[in-house]
Amino acid sequence: MDKYYYITTPIYYPSAKPHMGHAYSSIVSDVFARFKTIDGYKVHFLTGTDEHGQKIERAAKEKQMDPLAFCNEISKTFKDLCSLLNLSNTDFIRTTENRHKISVQHLWNELEKSGDIYLSKYSGWYSVSDEAFYHEDEIETKNNQKISISSGSKVEWVEEESYFFKLSKWQDKLIEHYEKNPDFILPKSRKNEVISFVKSGLKDLSISRKSFSWGIKVPSNHEHVIYVWLDALTNYLSALKYPEVSNMLYKNFWPVDVHIIGKDILRFHAIYWPAFLLAANIPLPKRVYGHGWILSGEEKMSKSKGNILDPIEIIDNYGLDPLRYYLIKEVSFGNDGNISKKKLEDCINSDLANNYGNFCQRVTAFAEKNCDSTIPDQIEFTYQDKKILNNYSDNINNLRKFIDEQKLNNYVHFIANALFDANKYFNDQEPWKKKNDKKRLNTIVYTSLDLIRKVSILLYPIIPSSSKKSLKIFNINEKDIFFDTIKDHKYLKSKSKILKTDILFKKITK
Ligand code: MSP
Repeated sequence: MDKYYYITTPIYYPSAKPHMGHAYSSIVSDVFARFKTIDGYKVHFLTGTDEHGQKIERAAKEKQMDPLAFCNEISKTFKDLCSLLNLSNTDFIRTTENRHKISVQHLWNELEKSGDIYLSKYSGWYSVSDEAFYHEDEIETKNNQKISISSGSKVEWVEEESYFFKLSKWQDKLIEHYEKNPDFILPKSRKNEVISFVKSGLKDLSISRKSFSWGIKVPSNHEHVIYVWLDALTNYLSALKYPEVSNMLYKNFWPVDVHIIGKDILRFHAIYWPAFLLAANIPLPKRVYGHGWILSGEEKMSKSKGNILDPIEIIDNYGLDPLRYYLIKEVSFGNDGNISKKKLEDCINSDLANNYGNFCQRVTAFAEKNCDSTIPDQIEFTYQDKKILNNYSDNINNLRKFIDEQKLNNYVHFIANALFDANKYFNDQEPWKKKNDKKRLNTIVYTSLDLIRKVSILLYPIIPSSSKKSLKIFNINEKDIFFDTIKDHKYLKSKSKILKTDILFKKITK
């Protein structure tokens, strides 16, 4: 039976060019998507851009551009970033597309039908930068300016007619859902934050705006545009052709396995989104994972702070796979992570150039010289060989579990340890001293080559291009990469050719 997996990134505001924070959400999601793909799942991996609302309207105005023309330009840079980051996304959605508008208006109608929408007046604080409403107790004054305590963004007073969603009505149902599904919100620390916020009492939510027009119109009242978060969140459904619930995309992929988001937008995904879905009688996502921030000098990267690390510049200087590996290995997933060029360079030198690249190089060079560039035959595994090989077969389900529970650091630490052990194995077994014992030499080379294969498969989700290059040694193509084969210790066919590969990672020298 086919197995399905649906994963999403947040859809990004095309108000400014992409930065490392955006790249991080996308890379992390790609790691999960690629793992599931090589583990035999049919994967739907969605990303895109969130193009409506006042923030975008104002950004376009500043450039004296029509909002759609403005979005076309910047959305393209996000789309280009997908290729630059080598994302395996299967769709890229823009909220200005018609397919999205159809879904949003349908969902609105469903909420109206269920009696969850009423017309009233909103008077309160609004942050255009966060596109969020804030209550009085969430605001402070700094330098004579009213700002949101949680995000630090400037807020402005808004008073206008607005449709409201009866969020308060769903408070108990939400709490019940969090309790019955303890892994609905991860990591655990964030779940507790959400629960205490919900328990403190939910107020109804303003879900339309009247004072500007850049958005999707409320179907029954064209003077209002739908609140940009209700619009944006629906992208996860519109990409599956909602409301056509009998189409294969929706049938196979909803409910989504995991929404990967940053912690800054947890409230929208873990409270508002499930409440809208409950009201519309749509099954809830299986999980919302709120990762931490990538910090630059202890602060969140943002345009207004001017502390943006440009992923494009880093990729130009160091290459994509080193950046991907570094972000996955060195940022503790779920927490904030401070990144620096120095730490990136250390990581490239130690893990990638020394432990991985060098191992591949040494073993293949040795096999070339001593085994005629072929996979050796006459293999007889001893205890030492079996021990290192069995580490993979014994842990295969643990590795799957790490991915299913988003324990990315456990996954990558398994790889880093496996690489250390592989190098140690090759050094300790000293095949260069076994030239008079062909069987032993062959077995050590065979085992070491298989370790390259296994570890390259494990690395595929993180550093796909380099892993593909390594697997070329054995003539394994991308479509033939299967995670399950790491448990097979006799996968490599004796006497088949070992192909030459380029140096995988260059050491960075000062
Ligand atoms: N458009 C909304 C999301 C709608 S999803 C239905 C939005 N866009 S955003 O462009 O401002 O940010 C999107 C995401 O980018 C954040 O949630 C987070 O995942 C990521 N990051 C932005 N800055 C970040 C860091 N400095 N560090 C890590 N990720 C952060 O919010």
